[in-house]
Amino acid sequence: MIPGPTPVPEKVLQALSKHPIGHRSKEFQELVESTTRNLQWLHQTKNDVLTITGSGTAAMEAGIINTLSKGDKVICGENGKFGERWVKVAMEYGLDVIKIASKWGTPLNPEEFKKILGEDIQKEIKAVILTHSETSTGVINDLKTISSYIQEHKTALSIVDCVTSLGACNVPIDEWKLDIVASGSQKGYMIPPGLSFIAVSQKAWNAAEKSNLPKFYLNLKSYKKSLLSNSNPYTPAVNLVFALDESLKMMKEEGLHNIFLRHKKHKLAISNSIKALKLKLFADEKYLSPSITAIETGELDAEEFRKTIKNKYDILLAGGQDHLKGKIFRVGHLGYVNDRDIITVITAISNTLLDLGKITSQEVGEALVTVSKNLESN
Ligand SMILES: Cc1ncc(COP(=O)(O)O)c(C=O)c1O
Repeated sequence: MIPGPTPVPEKVLQALSKHPIGHRSKEFQELVESTTRNLQWLHQTKNDVLTITGSGTAAMEAGIINTLSKGDKVICGENGKFGERWVKVAMEYGLDVIKIASKWGTPLNPEEFKKILGEDIQKEIKAVILTHSETSTGVINDLKTISSYIQEHKTALSIVDCVTSLGACNVPIDEWKLDIVASGSQKGYMIPPGLSFIAVSQKAWNAAEKSNLPKFYLNLKSYKKSLLSNSNPYTPAVNLVFALDESLKMMKEEGLHNIFLRHKKHKLAISNSIKALKLKLFADEKYLSPSITAIETGELDAEEFRKTIKNKYDILLAGGQDHLKGKIFRVGHLGYVNDRDIITVITAISNTLLDLGKITSQEVGEALVTVSKNLESN
C-alpha cells in the first residue's frame, strides 16, 4: 500500500503478457485510437491527451520545455517533495522562478497566487507550475481556485502535476481550463510504471510556437503529429498500451463518479480510524489527498514501524521523505484498492500499536468499528 506503483488487476496483467505487436501496424493504430479516446474521457477534456513512454516526470518536464523559453518568469508552488522537483526542473532550464511555498503538510495558499498574478501588469509571468496531490505529505492543493486566478491573469499557462490525483478525484480539465496536466501510469491508472500522459490545451499549443527550450524526445509537436494517424513518433511501450486499454475499459465500467467516491470513502475510513488510534494525521485535515494518507508516529520510529508491518503482515507502507524520514509513514490508497485492503491495513496498524503497548484492545476495537462504519457509508 504505497502510492505507486499501485496494485495491478488480473485482467490488466493478462493484457501485459500478450506478445508485442508492431507499433506501425493497423492493430496498434486501433489501440492508440481507442486509448486516446478513453484518456480524453478520463481527463474530462477535448484537448489532446498524449502518451509518452517515460515516467510522470517526463510528462511534467515535457510540459515545461514545450511551452516556455529561457529566462521566462514562472510561479512554482512548493509544499512538498514534488513541488520542490518542479522548482529544480524550472531552474535547470534557466527559468526565472518565483516560489510560492507553504510548510510541508499544509496546502498552498491560493490568495498568494492571486496577489502575485494580480500585480503582474506587464504580463511577465508565463506559467504557474504546481502539484495537485502532493504525494510526499498527503496534501491536496486547491487547484480549482488557483486555476481561476490564473484565468484572471489571462496570459499565464497552468502546468499541473496531477500524478496522484488523476483517476482518484475530480480533475475536470476543460471546466477548470487547465493548460498542461501531467500524470503517470503506475498510479490511478492501475498499470505498471513506464507510461505518462499529458493533456495539452490550445493555449499551450500556441505557447509552444514560441518556446525555445531544447527538446527532442519530448518534443510534443512530434507526438501530436503522429497522433493524427494514431501513431507514435518513437517505439512506444507496446505492452503497456495493451494494459492501458484494459485498465481504461475497467475504469469506464466503474464510472468516474464511483471511482471518485471510492477514493473519498477510503480516505475518510483511513483518516478517521487513524484518529481513533490516537495517531496524528500529518496533513491539514481539510486538505487530505484522496490517494495517500501521511501519519505521524510521535516518539515511535516510523521506519521501525514500517519494518514491523512489512515483516509481520507483508504490507508495504511508504516512509517519509527528506526531513520526514522516521517521523511519518504513508499509506497509499490509490488505484486498484478495495474495502478489504483498507480494513487489512488498519488492522495491521492497530495490532502493531497494541503489541507495542501504545493503545488498548478497546481502542483497537474502536478503530475497527470506525473503519467499518466509514466503509459502509455512501
Ligand atoms: C505527485 C507526483 N509527482 C510526480 C511524481 C513523479 O513521477 P515518476 O516517478 O513517475 O516520474 C510522483 C511519483 O511518485 C508523484 O507522486
